[in-house]
Amino acid sequence: MKAVVYKGPFQVAVEEVSDPRIEHPNDVIVRITSTAICGSDLHMYEGRTAAQPGIVFGHENLGIIEEVGPAVTSLRKGDRVVMPFNVACGFCINCQRGYTGFCLTVNPEPGFAGGAYGYVAMGPYTGGQAEYLRVPYADFNCLKLPEGTELEDDFILLADIFPTGYHGAELADVRPGESVAVFGAGPVGLMAAYSCLLRGASKVFVVDRVKERLDKAREIGCIPVNFDEVKPVEFIKEQSPGDRLATGSVPNKAFAGVDKGIDAVGYQAHVRGAAREDPAIVLNTLIEVVRPTGAIGVPGLYVPADPGAPDEEAKQGRLRLAVGRLFEKGIRLGTGQCNVKRYNQYLRDLIIAGRAKPSFVVSHRHRLEEAPLAYEKFDKRVEGYVKVVLKPQMAA
Ligand SMILES: NC(=O)c1ccc[n+]([C@@H]2O[C@H](COP(=O)([O-])OP(=O)(O)OC[C@H]3O[C@@H](n4cnc5c(N)ncnc54)[C@H](O)[C@@H]3O)[C@@H](O)[C@H]2O)c1
Ligand SMILES: [Zn+2]
Ligand SMILES: [Zn+2]
Repeated sequence: MKAVVYKGPFQVAVEEVSDPRIEHPNDVIVRITSTAICGSDLHMYEGRTAAQPGIVFGHENLGIIEEVGPAVTSLRKGDRVVMPFNVACGFCINCQRGYTGFCLTVNPEPGFAGGAYGYVAMGPYTGGQAEYLRVPYADFNCLKLPEGTELEDDFILLADIFPTGYHGAELADVRPGESVAVFGAGPVGLMAAYSCLLRGASKVFVVDRVKERLDKAREIGCIPVNFDEVKPVEFIKEQSPGDRLATGSVPNKAFAGVDKGIDAVGYQAHVRGAAREDPAIVLNTLIEVVRPTGAIGVPGLYVPADPGAPDEEAKQGRLRLAVGRLFEKGIRLGTGQCNVKRYNQYLRDLIIAGRAKPSFVVSHRHRLEEAPLAYEKFDKRVEGYVKVVLKPQMAA
């Protein structure tokens, strides 16, 4: 079959690889109809992880079941399914408690909890940017979708970014009426902002520098903040006068800021007005902009090894964080891979009910063969490339 193979920094190729086959009685083979490119793939694509050439990328996968293993009980050939990016067993203590992003049995790397398709250090699971995908523990990992081809651009986002954005809001414990600052208007940031609105937030700021992405934030009812044009901390504080933290009836300007914050950027964070990166800048900015006793959700990715980091400490994933301010303000912080299975069936039902339409982020659909071009444009964040879905079955 054809698949997207990582060849080295800034290089992928569509190559012939061996077809997946049933390796365990609870496996299924899925014929992929939609597979999305993720900002997480870009960290590998840019050579900013320990990923070695040869990996087949693709952890956001949807398709039709082609073949079922003899022990599969809940799925049939022909079922339309979307898989969480996490590979999880369903029986370890973390899976049982809903922490499927930290499954204890699927990753052979010692001490590493959690597995994923087509991702460095996440186990031996071949990615789905390909014609076919093997899904282990299929009864646990497949989410059934309505028959047909409807809402495909919405359902594909259930594999990762819709649940991941929602997870950001959950980690920050966003509640009705609250104000939130979301950093990053990439697919994850936009889904986090959208999820805050679904949860009833009254005011959502979205910070980025890419115009088309900020436009999407405005379209859904958020306040776009271009960090090259304004200083985010000052701008957000000015617009969040701290009235809920008033002393008497007087808004207390000293406590201006938002109730909650979400980091949907991660370690490859840019510095305003410069081409330079500072891996701690978003976290430190959030610590400033969130009110005392608020919370910060961090779905943005941080890695323990970054070969392209700006300094020696950051190369080992050690960042300069304003921990003193964090403590002083009593801000809680939650982070980690999203446990997709915890949310995906509920978010699917919101889509089916017509109460969520996450596909507003999907900007481009490409054939599998066009993956090198799609990676290049998405990586440069040009021409309105916000979220790309590859369609292995699409005719030329
Ligand atoms: N926790 C999880 O399970 C999970 C799942 C998927 C993705 N992720 C991670 O989430 C992050 C975002 O993913 P994405 O697909 O949206 O990626 P993306 O790279 O498309 O988006 C990141 C955005 O951040 C913006 N940005 C850069 N520096 C900034 C700064 N200082 N302030 C504000 N914005 C800034 C960029 O312009 C870009 O639009 C990535 O780190 C990705 O690896 C985590
Ligand atoms: Zn992803
Ligand atoms: Zn498990």
